[in-house]
Amino acid sequence: MEVFFILSFVFYLLFSCGCALSKTPTFEAIYQFGDSIADTGNDIHEIPRRAHYGCGRPPYGHTFFRHASGRCSDGRLMIDFFAQALQLPLLDAYLYKEGNFTHGVNFAVAGATALNVSTLAARNITARVTHSSLLVQLDWFRSHLNAICTCRSECQQKLENALFLVGEIGGNDYNFAAFEGKSMEELYNLVPEVVQTIVYVVKEVINLGAKRIIVPGNFPVGCMTIYLAEFKTNDSTMYDELHCLKSWNNLATFHNDQLQAAVKDLQDQNEDDIAIVYADYFNALTSILEDACSLGLDKDVMLKACCGIGENEYNFNKNRMCGSDGVPACPDPNKHVSWDGIHLTEHAHQLMANWLWEYILPATAQV
Ligand SMILES: *[C@@H]1O[C@H](CO)[C@@H](O)[C@H](O)[C@H]1NC(C)=O
Ligand SMILES: *[C@@H]1O[C@H](CO)[C@@H](O)[C@H](O)[C@H]1NC(C)=O
Ligand SMILES: *[C@@H]1O[C@H](CO)[C@@H](O)[C@H](O)[C@H]1NC(C)=O
Ligand SMILES: *[C@@H]1O[C@H](CO)[C@@H](O)[C@H](O)[C@H]1NC(C)=O
Repeated sequence: MEVFFILSFVFYLLFSCGCALSKTPTFEAIYQFGDSIADTGNDIHEIPRRAHYGCGRPPYGHTFFRHASGRCSDGRLMIDFFAQALQLPLLDAYLYKEGNFTHGVNFAVAGATALNVSTLAARNITARVTHSSLLVQLDWFRSHLNAICTCRSECQQKLENALFLVGEIGGNDYNFAAFEGKSMEELYNLVPEVVQTIVYVVKEVINLGAKRIIVPGNFPVGCMTIYLAEFKTNDSTMYDELHCLKSWNNLATFHNDQLQAAVKDLQDQNEDDIAIVYADYFNALTSILEDACSLGLDKDVMLKACCGIGENEYNFNKNRMCGSDGVPACPDPNKHVSWDGIHLTEHAHQLMANWLWEYILPATAQV
């Protein structure tokens, strides 16, 4: 409903000023690259035994789908709300054999990294969940194109009215490094290469015909339950006014600043008929945390995992996570931001999608 309201409002603005009318985008397809933030089922189809644990198992999915679809939330993800706002079907996962890709494809895989697994291994960082990193997903996109069009101009025409989301991606590169005990310096050193990889993929999809590309930044990871639980300290100076860990948010900001600068360079290098739009996931989420009360979230529990078992104030135990035997979900996920300590609730996704949509759509409409 709220997405619909914002959409109507945006259309109202476009119509009422009489400008850009002929340029109002009608998106016919969405192509999504990324990780668990956007995965609608690649994880459980890539490694079928995953359908029996973690995001492949109840209580994941119970809010909207009534079954676990492989989405790492109680319900819909931001990409689902974006698809619904564009009146397109929810995106099927590329690895789902019966998927219907008429209106786009989801290449995102839970656990995916921006950097190749081999590149991370060279830095002694182990990506344990999947090998389907961003460049592998780009290869999948090329294969998909080979299946739906035969020559360059035909492919370009097919992609002309498509919306691309390259990310969020890169979060796992830092997550894995952080939880494998790498120093902050080693984490900061990863940032340029992560950003370059994202930029490379944006350039490649543009070469293949993409015209509207959204490039999301990283979340305020210092507000994520797993970080709050793992790096808990009684030194109050380590926390900001939202009770998030400053040092981890600073790392996310460092990544986001570099990514934003790169997006701006890309926009400058490209013709005006191509829109490359940075999506500010960091401020989308911190704004929601700031407005928690008016948004119906419960300030005392919102950063507590809804689904989890807690020996601590965060209801999070990394050895007994949501989706494991006997790990319960809270009765009121809509009062929480954190669903399982790592991923957000459907309600938080909806709030973020609304917040983001308000400027994503006008920005892509300027093309
Ligand atoms: C795929 O989806 C499109 C539009 O959503 C629909 O028209 C078409 O019949 C579907 N194809 C199959 C095989 O279900
Ligand atoms: C990363 O993986 C992609 C896809 O498998 C491959 O094409 C590329 O050469 C690899 N790059 C590096 C630096 O390992
Ligand atoms: C690689 O990382 C592991 C921890 O994940 C650590 O025990 C080991 O010493 C590291 N090796 C090198 C060569 O840095
Ligand atoms: C943190 O708690 C420990 C005991 O758990 C105590 O020894 C230490 O002084 C505390 N540090 C601060 C900065 O309060």
